[in-house]
Amino acid sequence: MNSIINNIEIIKAKITKINDVDFDNLKFGHVFSDHMLECNFKNGEWQAPKVIPYQAISLDPSAKIFHYGQSVFEGMKAYKDANEDIWLFRPIENFKRLNISSKRLAIPELPESYFMDGLKTLLQVDNEWIPKKDGSSLYIRPFVFASGNGFHASPADEYTFIIACAPSGSYFSGKVRVLIEEKYSRSANGGVGFAKAGGNYAGQFYPTQLAIEKGYQQVIWTDDNTHEYIEEAGAMNIFVRINDTLITGPTSDRILDGITRKSIIELAEAKGIPVEVRKLSVHEVVAAAKDGSLKEMFGAGTAAVISPIAGFGYKGEDFDLPELEDTYASSLKKRITDIQTNKAEDPFGWRYKVE
Ligand code: PLP
Ligand code: COI
Repeated sequence: MNSIINNIEIIKAKITKINDVDFDNLKFGHVFSDHMLECNFKNGEWQAPKVIPYQAISLDPSAKIFHYGQSVFEGMKAYKDANEDIWLFRPIENFKRLNISSKRLAIPELPESYFMDGLKTLLQVDNEWIPKKDGSSLYIRPFVFASGNGFHASPADEYTFIIACAPSGSYFSGKVRVLIEEKYSRSANGGVGFAKAGGNYAGQFYPTQLAIEKGYQQVIWTDDNTHEYIEEAGAMNIFVRINDTLITGPTSDRILDGITRKSIIELAEAKGIPVEVRKLSVHEVVAAAKDGSLKEMFGAGTAAVISPIAGFGYKGEDFDLPELEDTYASSLKKRITDIQTNKAEDPFGWRYKVE
């Protein structure tokens, strides 16, 4: 039966898939909830979004997404607390970043109400899909792509915005080993590295496969010009602890301005941890690994949350991080997830109740 919530039309799925899902053993992004939000851009404007049953999309073979890769996406999570209330973390930041990415890819920007009301309505409809178990959440994937047709290499005249959701467990299993990249680049000055453009990820797959063959899970990208400075990893920003100082590189047009990254900087500062946002050379990290002052490295991102790095490879040499009792990674992970899941006060006003 059709209904309307927050001005969004809802077409309900006839059957639910939820009974087939093992919520105690969730992988990341592997099963999808019963509904999705869909919104189309045509005749020069975004049409009203609708919540519809999760389903395959039919596109013309000439749709520009296939040829010119005009697509952007976001990654968010919904959490359910002990009272069954639903929470998001800094969702307006994701909305703004989606439009920043869209603008760079010549995709029309979305109105905030379509994104936020559409997302809230979808979460209410798929409420039962939001996991309650610690460490699990409903991973939310908003994305926009060129669904308009034609082989001309120019922006499409039609676009599709979809939000799909996947109840998910952790992105990495266990600690992560990373390879510091010496040859390939993820992004370049003036490019699209700061945008969450689909093609940024496609370009990483081949070098990452090479790293996986050597026993690493992720590549740490270095600057495209000299390969001397640490930028970010494939799906997360990077933090390095040297002695007691936490260091992360500055954002630029080559690096994704991570919402987890900026939250971790504020949380660390609030805990009294000395934080430096500055260029960090591979040479400095290798020297710190050799003299024992390198205490921790971790990645930070929505999917990855805070993922401790066990070791890194560089120029054929492997370096192991020490196994410490109390790490910044574990205390900051607890702090941020307690805020996200409504287990602790949120002095920053980051948590957003879905109602
Ligand atoms: N860097 C890249 C390349 C990413 O894909 C992500 C994930 O979204 C991040 C960093 C972390 O960003 P956020 O914390 O906003 O999820
Ligand atoms: C996220 O952390 O949400 C991302 O989008 C990273 C993705 C590559 C899994």
